[in-house]
Amino acid sequence: MEEESPMRRRDRIKQGFSKLLKEDKLKAVAECIENPGEFVSLLKSFWFNDTKRQKTFDEFSENTISNFPIPYGISPNVLINNRNYVVPMVIEESSVVAAASAAVKFWGVRGGFHTEVIDTKKIGQVHFCWKGEPAALREMMPMIKDRLLRDTAGLTKKMEQRGGGVHDIELVDFHNEIPDYYQLRVSFYTCDSMGANFINSCLEAFADSLRDMFSDNIEIVMSILSNYTPECRVKVWVECPVEQLDGIDEHLDGQAFAVKFKKAVDIAHIDTYRAVTHNKGIYNGIDAVVIATGNDFRAVEAAGHSYAARNGHYESLSTAEIKDGIFSFAVEVPMALGTVGGLTSLHPLAKESLELLGNPTAPELMSIAATMGLANNYSAVKSLITKGIQQGHMKMHLTNILNSLGATDDEKIAATEHFKNIVVSHSAVEEFLKNLKTK
Ligand code: MEV
Repeated sequence: MEEESPMRRRDRIKQGFSKLLKEDKLKAVAECIENPGEFVSLLKSFWFNDTKRQKTFDEFSENTISNFPIPYGISPNVLINNRNYVVPMVIEESSVVAAASAAVKFWGVRGGFHTEVIDTKKIGQVHFCWKGEPAALREMMPMIKDRLLRDTAGLTKKMEQRGGGVHDIELVDFHNEIPDYYQLRVSFYTCDSMGANFINSCLEAFADSLRDMFSDNIEIVMSILSNYTPECRVKVWVECPVEQLDGIDEHLDGQAFAVKFKKAVDIAHIDTYRAVTHNKGIYNGIDAVVIATGNDFRAVEAAGHSYAARNGHYESLSTAEIKDGIFSFAVEVPMALGTVGGLTSLHPLAKESLELLGNPTAPELMSIAATMGLANNYSAVKSLITKGIQQGHMKMHLTNILNSLGATDDEKIAATEHFKNIVVSHSAVEEFLKNLKTK
């Protein structure tokens, strides 16, 4: 009988997979590739020996068959508002931590990073359809609001004791866009928690109350927080006299460097192709901190990119200025973070990251993450307008290339020495190793 191909076996995996034991899931998946034995032992080698810890990780998600490690790096001596931080950064891309650290060192002796948390207000929505006069609904809003707040008093009590809770409930009328469609736009303060569960629980309770009040006249479409958090926003900036930028590049004095730097940032304000890459560089730093502290980087990115498009076209999140001989560089980003609850207390490394940062409040963590965003953005733009990005990037990437080519430790040492002043490329490293072996 003809042997079933791995491709065919992939079709079989669909039924009942989630009901299998972890070990059986792993075996079933392994059958889908050419060398199942190797696959099983490789994936198992990433399991934790500590079964309790492994169980914790398995329970974070579903259908888990292994763990996927990402490097945990450190950027030390980050001076933010005159306080020194040791910042953990979880990122797989070479040169991000090095770039952040270089910027942090440079700005550390020029006053460091300054931050201002503009607000921490978050938004949730109950989307519903209501058959009736819009004016009648508007008139009933004070009564509806009272009832909703009363009905959720039990849910909000603890958050209120901590200084947060429901801030406001507003009716938004969209019935001209979609027949009968309205929403309750609810603003919240969630203290040091990211607040997703608190917000969603309140919204679903509001929806229940609306159903109870207007049974036949209302259809609840959905109740969910919004990841667009323009009012939960932080600003970070650095500044110095332009002369203090002398010496960054041999061909540019401080003034010329500042002008060219500003030009590069201005380009990211008018051109979307450049803006997306520019902002990606900002999120290299932000995401690394967000992940290291067990926060939701998809939410942070979604908010940031939509904020970047708030003026009708997508543009840079950072701005550069030169005024009265002072160069300043700033980033302003929305960011919903938590330092309590969720993964922040469940993931053992997230917990340690927060301790390393001195157990910050959520607004303080917003400042730290945005600082690393600005630091990475500074380093990227600085490299781009001077020696280019590849020289530094490929130096950092050299180890990855050497590893992919199976270089020994001695070969790595020889290659690192050889490529000190030579442009790194995959083929050049390959050639170097070939020559080394034939020597
Ligand atoms: C690479 O991860 C990020 C950069 O492309 C950012 C930028 O171009 O500004 C270097």
